[in-house]
Parts: sequence; C-alpha cells; structure tokens
Amino acid sequence: MDYEERITAAELGEGESRTEITLRPQALGDYIGQKKVTDNLKIFIEAAKLRHEPLDHVLFYGPPGLGKTTLAGIIANEMGVDIRITSGPAIERAGDLAAILTNLNENDVLFIDEIHRLNRSVEEVLYSAMEDFALDIIIGKGPSARSIRLDIAKFTLIGATTRAGSLSAPLRDRFGVSCKFEIYEPDELKRIIERSAEILGVAADEASMEEMARRSRGTPRVANRMLKRVRDFSQVKGSGDIDIEITKKALKALGVDELGLESLDREILRTIIERFKGGPVGIDTIAASIGEERVTIEDVYEPYLIQTGLLYRTQKGRMVSEAAYRHLGLTPEDDGEQLSVGISD
Ligand code: ADE
Repeated sequence: MDYEERITAAELGEGESRTEITLRPQALGDYIGQKKVTDNLKIFIEAAKLRHEPLDHVLFYGPPGLGKTTLAGIIANEMGVDIRITSGPAIERAGDLAAILTNLNENDVLFIDEIHRLNRSVEEVLYSAMEDFALDIIIGKGPSARSIRLDIAKFTLIGATTRAGSLSAPLRDRFGVSCKFEIYEPDELKRIIERSAEILGVAADEASMEEMARRSRGTPRVANRMLKRVRDFSQVKGSGDIDIEITKKALKALGVDELGLESLDREILRTIIERFKGGPVGIDTIAASIGEERVTIEDVYEPYLIQTGLLYRTQKGRMVSEAAYRHLGLTPEDDGEQLSVGISD
C-alpha cells in the first residue's frame, strides 16, 4: 500500500488539509497534550505581548503528526498576528525567501516546515533575517558587486523538523526557544478524538474512543484520520454511531492491528527476526531489505516501535524485543538460529 494511503501515515494526504484544519484547535486552551511545551510557550507569549515585541524564534522538533503546524497557528492567534506557512523544500532560491520575508508585517509568524531541508544559500539569507531583521542583497557581479542591507519587519520564525540533528549549528543557534514534541498518551488522544467527534457531529462511545486512542500510535493526526474512517464504516455498515464493535471491524478491514501497527511496521519487525536473527542489524540494511528509505524508517516508523518497546536502538544496530516476537506470534526459534544449529550439528 502506498505510504500516503495508510491510515496510520503521519503525513498529510492529498485533500486532507481542509478537514484537518476544521479539527485544528485555534486557541492554546483547546490544545491537548504537549504540556511541557505549551506551559513554557504561554509564558513567552505573554511576556512578548507585554513588551510589544515579536516572540523569539521557536524551533519545534519531533516525529510527524504531533501538532507542530497546529501549535504554530495557535501561537500566531495568541499573539494576534498573521501566519505565513511554507516548507524547506518549497523555498528553492534565496530570492523566494526574500520575497516572503519582505511581505511580512510587524510581529508576524513565518512557519517553515521541514526546515532541515532548506538549501544552504537560502539558509544563509535566513541568518541575518533572524538575527538583525535585515536582508543582505548582492547587487551586480564580479569586482563591482556590492552588498546592500534591506531592513524587514520584525517577525517570529517557527521552524519545524522531524530531525533536529540535521539542522546546521548556525541555524539551530539562532532559535531562542527549542521545543521537543513527544508522542501522546492514550488518554490525551482520547480527549482529542472526543473533541473531533463532537466537531464532526458523530456519536462515539467511551470504549470505541479508547480503542482508537490506543491504536493511534501516539499521533493526533492518525487518531483523527482513524475516527473519520471508522465513521465511514459506521455510516455504511452500522447505525451511524460509533461503538466498539464497528470500531474493531473497521480497524480490522483497514489492516490496523491491536497495537496500531500496519503492514510495514510488522514487515520491519518480521524482517529483523527472520532475516537477521532478531538483530542487531544496521538501519541501512533494514531499509534495503524492505525497500524503504532510511529516513522514512527513522522518522516515521521507528519512534512508535521504540516507544512501544518492540524495537531497540543499540550501538551495533536495531534489535527487536521479546514483545515483538510475541506480537507477531513468533518465538525466537523462528529467527533461523535454531535451523542453522540443526544444520551444523
Ligand atoms: N488536533 C491535532 N492535535 C491536537 C491537539 N494537540 N489538541 C487538540 N486537537 C488536536
């Protein structure tokens, strides 16, 4: 199945952004979870407003689907300013960024998703913009080239990344605030599902919301998508209301298992067990074996597999846990070791 089509894909699928936006909270008080992040931001926002200054530049990092864009929108709302949303790969040339920056109004928020994917020449423009609210523009070529400095409005950059380690040191150092997004707890996800069900106007009982929360791999985007798909099932095959029976049926049909794993998650675990004796095995070897990109495995699949204790990261590579064997209905004898012992005997 295509990655974007998976119900548990944490990235936004095509045509999905509109409903996502209706489910997105607009105020800090409606944002559920990430308490450490929001408690701090509340203070920084209030202080910046008291000083009539823009909020300091903020870096959000952590796995996809955890509400980074949502929180950036809330920050802009709470500050009473506009937000301009773009992404690292979308800003191809330094001129593209200069055009965005010169169009910002005082104290506006510029949100750059996947900021680790900015190219070097664009990133260099960002340095002076972040530090001095100025653009250094080179006019002319060769020996007669000269640089002029153009002032821009004071603004807040909110950068989001799934990989803080890939950010260059000069860029990382220019963020005054750095926030780590954590995978959500099931009770937080249940509250998010409850809120979304109300907005969508669908009735869901406690048991079904708990079940969806438990299988949403700690990710609100997955939880909201799951709710919408289960709602589809209940409308077509059930009463229209969501109960545990239709929830279980829908999730089975969607290939989401008891822990919220889908086929690729299981394939990763199965590959490590059956081809590499449970590990340790290098991430590049796993990626090649299952035909996925290393970064996709690292950013999208691994965080939840590690969080649930099914996978470990060791210095020698990835290893599966006993729980992973159990979850797949396998035993350590299934990893081929026993077989090779038998042959050499
Ligand atoms: N929708 C997506 N993320 C959310 C969150 N953290 N709180 C409430 N609704 C959300």
